[in-house]
Amino acid sequence: MAIERTLSIIKPDATKRNLTGAINARFEESGLAIVAQKRLHLTRAQAEAFYAVHAQRSFYGELCAYMCSGPVVVQVLQGESAVTRHREILGATNPANAAPKTIRKDFGVSVQENSAHGSDSPTEAQREISFFFAQTEIVG
Ligand code: CMP
Repeated sequence: MAIERTLSIIKPDATKRNLTGAINARFEESGLAIVAQKRLHLTRAQAEAFYAVHAQRSFYGELCAYMCSGPVVVQVLQGESAVTRHREILGATNPANAAPKTIRKDFGVSVQENSAHGSDSPTEAQREISFFFAQTEIVG
C-alpha cells in the first residue's frame, strides 16, 4: 500500500447547499487528509479544459455549464491508496446506483449533480492536481 494524492472537487450542487464541511468530515473520518484546498468559480474555459476527456460525450456541454453555475471547492487529498479510497467514499457516479452511506448516495441530486468529483487513476490524479495547484500550495 502506498501513500497517494488525489484531486477532489466539491461541486456547485453541494456548495450551494452548504455541504462543504459535511463532505470534508467524511474524508477526514476515513483517514484522508486535506493537504490543499481552495474555493473557486470556474470559468467555462477551465471547465472545458478540465473535462476535455469527455468532449465527445453527449453530456459534455451541460456538464461544463453546470460546473460553472456556482462555486466549487478544489482540494488535494492524501492517504493510503487515496485514489481508490476516495472513489469508494464517493460511491457510484449516478447517486441512484451508489452504495449506502456514500457521499453521492447521501448528498447527490442526479448523475450530473453528483456533489463531488474524484480522479479515476494515479496518472489522472497527477494531471488534475497540477491543473489547479502549484506544488508549493500542497502541504502534506
Ligand atoms: P465526475 O466524477 O466529475 O466525472 C464526469 C462527470 O460527468 C460526472 O462526475 C458527472 O457529473 C457527469 N456525468 C457522467 N455521466 C453523465 C450522464 N450520463 N449525464 C450527465 N452527466 C454525466
